[in-house]
Amino acid sequence: MSSSLATVAYIGATILFILSLGGLSNQTTALRGNLYGMVGMTIAVLATVLGPQVTAAGLPWIIAAMLIGGAIGLYAARTVQMTQMPELVALMHSMVGLAAMLVGFATYIDPAATTGFTGAAKTIHEMEIYVGIFIGAVTFSGSIIAFGKLSGRVSGSPVLLPGRHFLNLAGLLLVIYFGRAFLQEDAGLTPLIVMTVIALLFGVHMVMAIGGADMPVVVSMLNSYSGWAAAATGFMLSNDLLIVVGALVGSSGAILSYIMCNAMNRSFISVIAGGFGTTSAKPTAAADGVQPAGEVTPVSAVETAELLREAKSVIIVPGYGMAVAQAQHTVYEITKYLREKGVNVRFGIHPVAGRMPGHMNVLLAEAKVPYDIVFEMDELNDDFPSTDVTMVIGANDIVNPSAQDDPSSPIAGMPVLEVWKSKTSIVMKRSMASGYAGVDNPLFYKENNRMLFGDAKKMLDEVLTSLKA
Ligand code: TAP
Repeated sequence: MSSSLATVAYIGATILFILSLGGLSNQTTALRGNLYGMVGMTIAVLATVLGPQVTAAGLPWIIAAMLIGGAIGLYAARTVQMTQMPELVALMHSMVGLAAMLVGFATYIDPAATTGFTGAAKTIHEMEIYVGIFIGAVTFSGSIIAFGKLSGRVSGSPVLLPGRHFLNLAGLLLVIYFGRAFLQEDAGLTPLIVMTVIALLFGVHMVMAIGGADMPVVVSMLNSYSGWAAAATGFMLSNDLLIVVGALVGSSGAILSYIMCNAMNRSFISVIAGGFGTTSAKPTAAADGVQPAGEVTPVSAVETAELLREAKSVIIVPGYGMAVAQAQHTVYEITKYLREKGVNVRFGIHPVAGRMPGHMNVLLAEAKVPYDIVFEMDELNDDFPSTDVTMVIGANDIVNPSAQDDPSSPIAGMPVLEVWKSKTSIVMKRSMASGYAGVDNPLFYKENNRMLFGDAKKMLDEVLTSLKA
């Protein structure tokens, strides 16, 4: 393929990626957005592999790597559970970081990649390598820790080292110092290797310092970092498409992080800086396995069905437990039944419900719940006082009143769905265990709250049977 044809293909792919991002911003156009992305990526891969930068000798290597990578990707995509998606995404971000690191070292070591650069051009090229490896290393190690936290392999509690901000600052100064050393004539690999080790440690430190409740911001932030790592790789390889696509992912991830920060009532800078402002409050009793005192009022599936049958308006608040139980289809069966009986049923979605942005929307769309009855938190929060029954299905942190009432709570200040204001709330979960943030939930002990204990899918099946009986 000639270089001008490759350029045309790259422009076409870029347009498709932009259309893809536009499509993904709305549920009704998301499928089309995905299609644009897939076609764009196919064009981009073909134009690169068949393009002028790949020699005939390199082609078998690329094809072999693509076959191995494609087979692993296909296997992972087919076997991953919906509840494991966030950790899979974190793992993929780590791959982008690792690729940026490896490309950086390969570009520096390979003499063919650096010939032709002299004077200022050489300095700029070396800076690209240095910055590219730095971003890649932070993304790689940060994403690995995020993967550990999201999959439960690493504790969700923040690890706050004494003087952690000074450690970060010292690390940054060292990175600048070694950057200067690296740009000297014949500096060799040592400054690059030292900086990589510091960057890897920084990535670990940054994500370890972030507490469970702030993880949504970390997920979107690492998404953004992976975009910048890809853009840096594009600079190193002089690949325009990679630069543009990396910048698209980097900036859309940054916007998502900003939205997430607003949703969590956290400052963007403080999260980026890693655990800034994270309180060192100890996890509460429930997180330690000690249950807090208080009386809860359990209900049965039959009683729940009775409450629903008598209701005129119902709000359903899904959370991570609905994803674990895969209860979305039964939820929709119940919704359909109640709507046929004239009940006003709506869904309230918290921006950080579940374990990844849009998690609940994906599940509800899969179950074919109409979009026009799915509302965001802000659209619905004023309606709880006029709601007869609110069903909280496997949600916990996002309906926790202590975010508003207890300034010492790790989730203090996070906006929550005010389900306790409805006439009756029913919380469906298996036990009294706390949610991801490890915080007690006073909602469970409120007078107008009922607890329906058990697996969400099993209990909802029983509720549906009772409703239809
Ligand atoms: P959580 O607060 O984690 O609560 C989920 C609840 O579901 C648990 O208390 C659990 O209680 C229950 N559950 C689990 N399996 C169940 C099953 N099979 N049937 C019924 N219930 C089940 O979830 P949430 O309310 O959705 O809040 C999300 C949390 O995750 C927030 O803290 C958020 O910051 C964090 N987070 C979010 C994201 C994104 S981007 N959305 C990313 C990382 C972290 P039992 O064990 O008693 O059943």
